[in-house]
Amino acid sequence: MSKPTLDEIRKLAKEKLANAYAPYSHFPVSAVVVAKSGRPYVGVNVENSAYPLSRCAEQVAVGAMVAGGDREIELVLIHSTSSPPAAPCGACRQVISEFADPETPIICVNDAGEERRFTIGELLPAAFKLDGSR
Ligand code: THU
Repeated sequence: MSKPTLDEIRKLAKEKLANAYAPYSHFPVSAVVVAKSGRPYVGVNVENSAYPLSRCAEQVAVGAMVAGGDREIELVLIHSTSSPPAAPCGACRQVISEFADPETPIICVNDAGEERRFTIGELLPAAFKLDGSR
């Protein structure tokens, strides 16, 4: 499968933001995880009235990727409404790290067209691994 362009990924994340379920925080987030296979997987935040059970968009997208049969992340794009665009929370950084290289790009965008680019290695140096590597 050919890899989607960055513009296509941006468009997909923007469209799917409307599916976020964020009635408590009013902070919708969508994430597109593109696997090395080229397949894009979408996640949105899914909140719960028992607040700690809420799920972040990035974790939902990584779960979709694994369920879809992919295991390697090419890049992650996160769409939020804040300025500057929100970077992934600490837990999401660890979840992404499981399936990424330190150089994997994490691109954070918002409705205003602002963009911040990181690598997962910058966002989470020394990610936890059972063998201590990284
Ligand atoms: N949220 C995400 O979806 N991803 C993050 O990396 C940080 C926060 C969600 C969780 C909650 O539904 C809302 O944003 C406000 O914290």
